[in-house]
Amino acid sequence: MNSYQIALIPGDGIGVDVTDATMDVLNVAARKFGFTLVPEAFDWSCAYYQKHGAMMPDDGIATLRRFNAIYLGAVGWPDTVPDSVSLHGLLLPIRKAFTQYANIRPHRLLEGVQGPLRAEGFDILCIRENTEGEYSGAGGRVHQGQPNEVATEVAIFTRTGVERIIRFGFEQARARRKHLTSVTKSNAQKYSMVFWDEVTKDVAKDYPDVTVSHMHIDAMAAKMVMAPQDLDVIVASNLFGDILTDLGAAIQGGLGFAASANICPDKSGPSMFEPVHGSAPDIAGQNIANPIAAIWSGAMMLEHLGEAKAAQAVLDAISATTAQGIGVRPGASRTDAITTAIKTALEGQA
Ligand code: IPM
Ligand code: MN
Repeated sequence: MNSYQIALIPGDGIGVDVTDATMDVLNVAARKFGFTLVPEAFDWSCAYYQKHGAMMPDDGIATLRRFNAIYLGAVGWPDTVPDSVSLHGLLLPIRKAFTQYANIRPHRLLEGVQGPLRAEGFDILCIRENTEGEYSGAGGRVHQGQPNEVATEVAIFTRTGVERIIRFGFEQARARRKHLTSVTKSNAQKYSMVFWDEVTKDVAKDYPDVTVSHMHIDAMAAKMVMAPQDLDVIVASNLFGDILTDLGAAIQGGLGFAASANICPDKSGPSMFEPVHGSAPDIAGQNIANPIAAIWSGAMMLEHLGEAKAAQAVLDAISATTAQGIGVRPGASRTDAITTAIKTALEGQA
């Protein structure tokens, strides 16, 4: 029987609630499809930071390396640790250390879920560059607190980094409806984004079966609202992808439905799976967080592990649940009720 070692980092706030819900569902899938998930939980979080002065131990990355995958709930508890510290101490270093350069986020309406748009038949896969660009962490501040203070945050785009994410986007498009839209702002950002466009045109030569569009980020924001059904795969830089995927979450009914995978495509390190939403301190521990985004991210983890049938079964169970109106509106169903409904749907599948 295949068995997979999973590093669980529930993190902060509702990250804990939704990680429990996800493992509950994934264990049902594992039993049904004949594999086992062997979880090991790590309490790395803002509470951990308060005790130890770091978000994870010094050997945290080395510890994670031996797992087949990482599942993360959410990070952040700004009342105690500034977000810029907690995120740069846990989530972002994991993405970078394991070269999880492809952040994949699907945006489509689940059955029974009403989004805010009139458009219904959209199915977008956003591929966000996840290790460099605007979130490289290069920059600094001088003359702090003085009138002549200067702050820089330098976006770093490397040929290796850009080429591999564009190529990844083309591969995804090839497996879907064969259309890729590359999102930049090359009219205003004349170095990095013009470079990105050039690399896209170069890589496109290897994918004559995929059609390519180039759009600016501002126009794409409008397009995702006005005509999302015209989009297939989108590829964007770290910052642009970050923003567009919150917009994607909004048009699919909210952050409660937005799943994500941080993929290390060559499998030289583990990939990490997490819902797009954050830790939502205001509703933490109240059994009211929607676990669907998290469970969907869990399905993406099963797919990555090679358990495609189990992954599809979990997705089908999620749809069967939302089709009954369970978990479709914020606050209408409780976390455990949604989780139980998904497990029941999964168990009941032929
Ligand atoms: C996300 C989040 C993170 C990101 C933050 C919390 C650093 O917004 O996964 O989209 O921007 O990568
Ligand atoms: Mn984000």
